[in-house]
Amino acid sequence: MTIPTMPLQHYLQFSDLTADDYAWLFERAAIIKRKFKAYEKYHPLADRTLAMIFEKASTRTRVSFEAGMYQLGGSVVHLTTGDSQLGRAEPIEDSAKVISRMVDLVMIRTFGQDKIERFAEHSRVPVINGLTNEFHPCQILADIFTFLEHRGLNAEGMPDPARLAGKTVAWVGDGNNMANTWLQAADLLGFTVHLSTPSGYEVDQAVAGVRSRESYKVFKDPMDACRGADLVTTDVWTSMGYESENEERRKAFADWCVDEDMMKAARPDALFMHCLPAHRGEEVAAEVIDGPQSVVWDEAENRMHVQKALMEYLLLGRVSS
Ligand code: CP
Ligand code: NVA
Repeated sequence: MTIPTMPLQHYLQFSDLTADDYAWLFERAAIIKRKFKAYEKYHPLADRTLAMIFEKASTRTRVSFEAGMYQLGGSVVHLTTGDSQLGRAEPIEDSAKVISRMVDLVMIRTFGQDKIERFAEHSRVPVINGLTNEFHPCQILADIFTFLEHRGLNAEGMPDPARLAGKTVAWVGDGNNMANTWLQAADLLGFTVHLSTPSGYEVDQAVAGVRSRESYKVFKDPMDACRGADLVTTDVWTSMGYESENEERRKAFADWCVDEDMMKAARPDALFMHCLPAHRGEEVAAEVIDGPQSVVWDEAENRMHVQKALMEYLLLGRVSS
């Protein structure tokens, strides 16, 4: 019996896929979401196993990958640093060789991007970035899909990434993994990011891995970044792994709270997003995240739908069903 094999493709950062791949994924995510809502059984990954490795905490990433893999007919193995040999200094290369002989796909949430790259280098199966210090590509995949659902459907009701052209995303807050990934997405999909970060917390273009400054603009005042934006988005002031900087960040970020005035500066139909978990009264006012422009619950749910499309794509390629 011959089993079809896909060329090995990892998803370690947003720029690992092309604009054409993303158009495919957005369409598949919409189709897979419809099947889920209709309780239509769809098991293209029957007998496939996903290993999920968490070196940092998670709610959404764990639930969305785990539920998503089961819904596709596969199964899941959950590992953490504390309950595996990863926490006892087994080399990442050895772990990659062993784990990837037993499963079909690996999702990792870890610290430095170098760690996931080393794992991928020694893995026989596709590796997906479930968040590193530098990037969070699955989240931005969900965010853009959510934006398209609300503001960019074509006449057939399908997400149309061409509608991203000319759109502006305002990023208010830390120059972190989310901000870096937004920049990669803008570079690839043709929209603009307005960045406003406190001094000392700017995005480093080299770390973000973007080629030019054409797709983003930097603003000192967050209000200016929000002016005319189609989407306003933010994230926690202190990301996982940076907790020792909590107090100094609290002071530095005090003016970077997305409030109703910032939303008023944006376009009247602007959306608000936050990858969650959120701290009301810190990076976002309760009136904004719980207000009419917020789409954070759709955004969270869509993690599962886009990741199902991603897993299907990495393992089976461009299927039609
Ligand atoms: N947005 C996100 O990745 O959430 P979790 O940390 O809960 O996985
Ligand atoms: N920037 C945040 C995102 C959490 C989903 C972090 O890295 O902790």
